Order: sequence, then structure tokens, then C-alpha cells
Amino acid sequence: MGRNLEKRQHLFNGYPRGWFVLAFSEELDVGDIKKITCFGQTLVLYRGEDRIVRAMDAYCPHLGGGLVKGKVIGNSIECPFHAWRFGPDGKCNHIPYASSIPPKAVINTWLIQEVNHIIYLWHDPAGGEPDFEIPLLPESEDEHWTTWEYAQLEIETHPHELVENVVDIGHFSPVHRTQVEKFENEFKGHMAIQRNEGVAYPLGGGIDNYSIEATYYGPGFQISKWNGFMEARLINANTMIDTNKMILRFGVMLKKGNDLRQTVAFQKGYIENLSKGFQEDVDIWLEKKFVEKPILCDGDGPLMRLRKWYSQFFVPREETKQLPFDGKVLETDVLQPAG
Ligand code: FES
Ligand SMILES: [Fe+2]
Repeated sequence: MGRNLEKRQHLFNGYPRGWFVLAFSEELDVGDIKKITCFGQTLVLYRGEDRIVRAMDAYCPHLGGGLVKGKVIGNSIECPFHAWRFGPDGKCNHIPYASSIPPKAVINTWLIQEVNHIIYLWHDPAGGEPDFEIPLLPESEDEHWTTWEYAQLEIETHPHELVENVVDIGHFSPVHRTQVEKFENEFKGHMAIQRNEGVAYPLGGGIDNYSIEATYYGPGFQISKWNGFMEARLINANTMIDTNKMILRFGVMLKKGNDLRQTVAFQKGYIENLSKGFQEDVDIWLEKKFVEKPILCDGDGPLMRLRKWYSQFFVPREETKQLPFDGKVLETDVLQPAG
């Protein structure tokens, strides 16, 4: 059991249900295979000839060959060990030295969607179908906007720490030197929204008067619309590796200015600033403990509401009515903190 996870277990037990980012589209070309460890399991992601991305368990059901070292043939994946081939449905469709294929030669497949030039996996420990959609970001198909610039951090913490930033108005000034002037949260089914206006002091210098609307779509990713010195769209996504570690992926696209080279340079600076900003959070997370019953003041954001919203993804769907705190899932709830 890792750092400070014990007490969290009964609130956020095991792994959540939702859409989770595995990669940005350009990281996986036709014929590429990528090994991914998430939610305590290992899988392979590959892009077939038809350009569709698929995911399967990483090890061949024949004798355990590692498919990451295999080949993509058409839309199937071929094991490097004895060249058994598995199709998009997970069924073995070719064995070079057998006259018939054993009916049990099937590998487990995972549901993948590629939206906004990002590859997402549906994860539900109970094996259920998706109950919400990934939102379309029209800017990702708009030539007036750049493509994604992105980076990632591997962090030894629970994603709950990251998600709690949604309501944590009090940490912006001490941790990020940001002066928050307006702050509001809204919880709506699978969405948790933060609206925030203020003044940021980026690490490279300067002053940015910003307004941001940041929405979590389920527990796995947040899309932010940032208006400030430039117009930006951001994604920040957490995918648990196991119950002690997660990958935080983040990307930014910018509305192109007149000088494209300047926009691109600015975008690289933006990602560097984001990395440093997240590192500021990480420095706090690695030395904090989880406080189950925090002492809150009237200027704090709706932290317990956030925990209730987040915990709905950690219990089977039929049990979301019996969540901790006040016992029901919020439909719509707009909150403005006092102070
Ligand atoms: S282990 Fe995969 S084909 Fe034999
Ligand atoms: Fe933060």
C-alpha cells in the first residue's frame, strides 16, 4: 500500500469507471503497436490498415507471447512467438501450422474511441457499456487552431488529488501564484465544472488576465477553455497505472495568430509552463496525507460535494444512490463559495 492510500480506500476503492486517455493520435501510426499498463493490467494498442485503433490484452492466449513485439497484418495483430493472428474481435483467425483453429483461441479486447485526435479507453471494472460520451472539440478539426502539443508525468499518487483541484480555490495563490477573482463550481451527472477568472503570473514572466471554464467528463479527463493572452483549449487526463501510480497527460491547442511561428513557440512555452504548474501540485501531493474529515472554512470550495461526485465512478452503477456524504447523486448543483 503506497503513500496515504489506506484511508482513501473506502471512498475511492479500486479503479473507476469512465473514459481514459491512452495516447494522442499522432503517437500511433498505422502498423504501430504500443504497450500500455493501466488499471493494474497490461494491454497493447495498435492501429490497423483501416486506421482504426484497437486494444487487446498484451499476452497471447497460446503460450503467452508478448504481442507488443508482434506485427500488424491488415487489421489483425500477429504474435511474434508462433505467428497466431488475432482479428479486431479478438478471435484467432490464422495459425500457419494448424488445420483448424481452437475455438477458445480468443483474446480479450477493450473498447477504444478516437475523438479530437486523442485515443480513449472505456474502463468499467463491472464490464458495463459506456454511459456517457466523449465531447467533440470542434477546434481540433479547425484549421484556425494548432494541433495538440502535449507532455506527460508519471506520479506516485491517487488521481483524486488532481481532481480535487476542481474545487480547491484556496491553493491557487500559495501554490500557483494565481489571483482568483471569480470562482464557481457546478456538478451535473458525470460532469464537474469549474468557472474561474483572475490574474495569472506565468513562470516566464508577464501578467495574464484569464477566464477559464474547465469541465471533467467523468473521472478521467478535463477539457478547459481558456481565454487570456491567447485563446487555448487544454486537456488534462489521468489514467491509473495501478492503485499507487498514475499517468497525467496534458495537451494544449491554441488559436493561431498572424505569425504562426510565434504561435508555435508560444505553444511550446505553454506546455513547459503547464508542466511546471503540475509539478507545483505534485510537490504538494507527494508530501501530503489524505484527510478524510477535513476542517473547512467558509472560503473553501465545495470539497465534500466534489468527493461525492468523484466517488460515483468507484461504485457499481446500481449503488450510486447509496454514496457516502448525503446519499444521493447530484443532478444539478451550482455552488458559489462564500468569502
Ligand atoms: S505464444 Fe503467441 S503464437 Fe504462440
Ligand atoms: Fe493546482
